[in-house]
Amino acid sequence: MATPPSLEEEFSRLKLEQAHFPNCYPEYNPLDAYKIHISERVGKIAGVEPAVVYPALQRARVPEQGDLNLAVPALRIKGTKPQETGAKIVEQWTESPFVQKLELDGVHLKIFFNPAVLTQAVLPAILKNRETWGGNPQLGLRNVEDPSQGKKKIVVEFSSPNIAKPFHAGHLRSTIIGSFLANLHEISGWDVTRLNYLGDWGKQYGLLALGFGMYGDEAKLEADPIQHLFEVYVKINQDVKAEDEKIKALETEGKETEAAELQAKSLNEKARQYFKAMCDDNKEAVALWSRFRKLSIEKYKNSYARLNVRFDEYDGESQVSNKSMKEVEARMAEKGLLEESKGATIVNFEERGKALKKLGKVLIRKQDGTSLYITRDLGAMFSRVKKYNFDKMIYVVANQQDLHLKQLFTIVDLLGEKELYSKVLHVNFGMVRGMSTRKGNVVFLDDILRDVRDHMHEVMRKNQDKYAQVSDPDRTADILGISSVMIQDMGGKRIHGYDFDMDKMTSFEGDTGPYLQYSHARLRQVLRKADLPPEAYESSADLSLLTEPLDHSLVRLLVQYPDIVQMTLTTLEPTTILTYLFLLTHGINSHYHKIKIIGSEPELMKARLALYDATKAVLNHGMRVLGLQPLERM
Ligand code: ARG
Repeated sequence: MATPPSLEEEFSRLKLEQAHFPNCYPEYNPLDAYKIHISERVGKIAGVEPAVVYPALQRARVPEQGDLNLAVPALRIKGTKPQETGAKIVEQWTESPFVQKLELDGVHLKIFFNPAVLTQAVLPAILKNRETWGGNPQLGLRNVEDPSQGKKKIVVEFSSPNIAKPFHAGHLRSTIIGSFLANLHEISGWDVTRLNYLGDWGKQYGLLALGFGMYGDEAKLEADPIQHLFEVYVKINQDVKAEDEKIKALETEGKETEAAELQAKSLNEKARQYFKAMCDDNKEAVALWSRFRKLSIEKYKNSYARLNVRFDEYDGESQVSNKSMKEVEARMAEKGLLEESKGATIVNFEERGKALKKLGKVLIRKQDGTSLYITRDLGAMFSRVKKYNFDKMIYVVANQQDLHLKQLFTIVDLLGEKELYSKVLHVNFGMVRGMSTRKGNVVFLDDILRDVRDHMHEVMRKNQDKYAQVSDPDRTADILGISSVMIQDMGGKRIHGYDFDMDKMTSFEGDTGPYLQYSHARLRQVLRKADLPPEAYESSADLSLLTEPLDHSLVRLLVQYPDIVQMTLTTLEPTTILTYLFLLTHGINSHYHKIKIIGSEPELMKARLALYDATKAVLNHGMRVLGLQPLERM
């Protein structure tokens, strides 16, 4: 058997080998180092290039399947049956310090690592980089061989609520998922811009301005702009509705001229004119509106901070310049995409072949010359190309807007912008059902957060002994409440909707936010109780003392983490990481209940503290990527 020092040499040799295989990062993903080692040996036995073996090696999905799996048919060896090749590999495999055993299961090879060696390789690496281990800054490099070429650029557009309207569940999901995607790319070495594209433009804002003239109150606006503007918006919309009904009634009575007269001086018509003035850069109109916008943003910032979310830029529909829209429209006209329809301009997808038929028709310019949602999105996209020169841009928007984004992207495609088309991506998600607050169905972010916090507080109070020990119950309840909401949101695949269930999400039992936080805080508590500085075990603990199967199961999970993170860049699903974190917390739980740490033999205790500390680092990292604020005690 080889001894640890030579193993270390072997491991650093493997880490230097990355150039041989694409998508191989042994420096950051220990599984890749194992893959190099195994590819070399399997290649020799099977008579194929290691480069053929390498991509056929995959992380095992469950511990019973080993640590890596090799699908033998993927080696594509002509003239032999995969089963036979598999058997030959097992038979001729020469002893390796890294690998404990190989097992053939049909045409799949299960590869089990030597857990003692794995432990010695992985724990020190995690402890040395405890803040960052799991992330891989090379993934976002333009060129891994030449880091001086810099990072790839990504724009993540998310949250994007509408001023004077409720911050509904769709915005909450977009906020949670978008912030996660931004974090994920950041730890993967991308240059990330977090962008909030506010809904702050359109005829309804003309209406809001009119409404403010009638119902507005300066003091209320300053105190709570979001709430107040919403109240104004609701009132003026009631007026509009009443007017509309009157006009309809006149029409059914056949009083066409009276109906038309009323229509001409209606709020709706005035709103249209007001918005037209805003579009034409009328100073007064724009000034009022920009105050609404500014005050609302200030308020949003506070709520986002509570959620641990920040933006690099508060963009919005209003920020899209006329020039940028006109430019795209000119190009669209040139390509023959635009059609006139009753004085307005449209794109008619229905005439563009079977594949595009379902995209229908979309209005690009109204009769009065004002822009629409999609016009602004088109202008914004091309402005962002100029401003950020991104490699990728993600729109995190509910699946209710699938059609809109399809239309948007298809126009880009029809403009011949193949490259841009390949860089933009709609990350969508399903509906949340039943999200309401005590005040009723209209939802503001702050109201949701307040309700969940209060609910959480009640749950915490049920365990009086524990509650008495919580040092800052309000803050703890707030963070736990937010964790509850987020974890519930990330539990399933994005596309699935779910029921907003306050009782279930705030429970300490089951795979919930509070359970995740609790597992983290408990690891911390054990470390605290041991009362040893990390230096006492970080690099000096004798890790060969970790011989229990439960120790090894934890280590085997830990080594998978960087690979999970990397895979998440493909799935773009928070649940990929979350599912892993729950496996890890279950592992921690079993370990905690069976194996004593505090009070065990001192050297063994040190080794176990190293294991706990490394596990905590990974859990902490995963939680932060998801956007949670890990609690140190609770
Ligand atoms: N403000 C929009 C809404 O609430 C979402 C914006 C989505 N982003 C975009 N580029 N269209 O429905």
